Amino acid sequence: MKEEKQPERMLSADYQKTLADLRLKVSQMAKQKDRPLLYHITTYGCLMNEHDSEKLRGILETIGYQPAAKEDEADIVLYNTCAIRDGAEQKVYGRLGYLKTVKRRRPEMLIALCGCMTQQKIVLDKLQKTYRHVDIIFGTHNIYMFAELLMACLETGEQIIDIWDKHQEIVEDLPIIRDNPYKASVNIMYGCNNFCSFCIVPYVRGRERSRPSADVVAEVRELVAQGVVEIMLLGQNVNSYGHGLEEDINFTGLLRKLEEIDGLKRLRFMTSHPKDLSDELIEFIGISQKLCPQFHLPMQSGSNKVLKEMNRHYSQEHFMELVAKLRKARPDIAISTDIIVGFPGETEEDFAQTLEVAEKAEFDMAYTFIYSPRTGTRAAAREDKIPDEVSKERFGRLLKVVNQNIHKKSVALLDTIQPVLAEGIGENGKIRGRLNNNHLIHFDGDASLLGKIVDVKIVKARTFYLMGELVNHG
Ligand code: SAH
Ligand code: SF4
Ligand code: F3S
Repeated sequence: MKEEKQPERMLSADYQKTLADLRLKVSQMAKQKDRPLLYHITTYGCLMNEHDSEKLRGILETIGYQPAAKEDEADIVLYNTCAIRDGAEQKVYGRLGYLKTVKRRRPEMLIALCGCMTQQKIVLDKLQKTYRHVDIIFGTHNIYMFAELLMACLETGEQIIDIWDKHQEIVEDLPIIRDNPYKASVNIMYGCNNFCSFCIVPYVRGRERSRPSADVVAEVRELVAQGVVEIMLLGQNVNSYGHGLEEDINFTGLLRKLEEIDGLKRLRFMTSHPKDLSDELIEFIGISQKLCPQFHLPMQSGSNKVLKEMNRHYSQEHFMELVAKLRKARPDIAISTDIIVGFPGETEEDFAQTLEVAEKAEFDMAYTFIYSPRTGTRAAAREDKIPDEVSKERFGRLLKVVNQNIHKKSVALLDTIQPVLAEGIGENGKIRGRLNNNHLIHFDGDASLLGKIVDVKIVKARTFYLMGELVNHG
């Protein structure tokens, strides 16, 4: 961490010039075509990737591209990929196969690929061998270079590949087009040092590094000034925020600073690693006025043997203790989790413990996954793989248990009145919003409510969403 360069605060003059040159080039191309140039971005994976796509969109719109209604019509098609499980990668290969036929029809269409998949050598080899119609390939450490790479591709007409094996600098102040005007994601750290034995993230996102708190605070202030009321702080392990920074600060210290920002109404964060969840943070959750009563605490497995082999550094007992402490500090807290089924060597007894802990913890939401071996990770080298049929059968049993709990938690909200941030209008014409505890809700209302926190009475409870009625607003 020490040897990494200090973060660069402002966009360099060179970068500004590249953007200006590209703007000119794009406007010339648009003139030739007699229509604006169009882009289409598809994002896979986590909120981190969604947020990176907001930056990519910011770059594209800054240089003059406009969003395409359909991918087939776009002049540049960009895939921001995820490598967390094989399924996520197969989807992208499928799309690239389809785009080959589109490109035969429209050879001038550019295809760009970035994100976590491209950081793996095995993927890069495959792309270079079988997917030569992809024009630009870049990684997670240089997304801010997208403008330069696009320029090089437009000028030379050659395939451009630029993957860095580690991060160089944190570039601040990139142009950015956010998905939602009322809630925004803010990175507080990048990368991960934990090397859970199943996980590809440390290999594709590099070592952990935190943003200086002044930069985070400045970004949140700016967003609030623009009308944002809810902020989601992003990091693979927010509880280790601050390590390696020159200032003496930890995650709770950062939250205390953000709590003071006038106009900010709701604060959330993701993800917390149980091994680093401190009593200090739990105490702060109990007294904070802005932190939402919601906590994502990935459990992964309920078996101590499996947790050890996953390199998670906590036990089932410690995990349950954390759940109890969180509920004590904030009785209305909704706790969500991630669970993996079919990790190598997982016995029926191990799985039974996962089921038992999942039931006892009474999760408000649970994201469940079948273990997917990732080349290069420690667990992938193991020979005691669990047969697919066994994993699938266990997965079904787990889903039943967690969904029953989720449904129970939804039903418990019936007839209560809850503050809801009206975030958007759904396809059904209803307002879509989120409770403080992050439950999704739909209710009748008009566009004047958007961006406001309004009282809604819960009238119907489905497993994954609620229906409500507006109580009052003003
Ligand atoms: N940093 C977060 C997790 C990010 S990945 C944390 O530590 O909790 C999101 C989830 O994907 C993980 O929590 C895990 O449950 C799941 N996951 C990661 N690698 C996986 C793999 N190889 N197979 C199946 N699920 C996986
Ligand atoms: Fe992956 Fe573990 Fe890091 Fe989360 S903490 S990103 S699961 S290695
Ligand atoms: Fe996120 Fe997938 Fe990368 S979960 S960090 S986009 S591997």
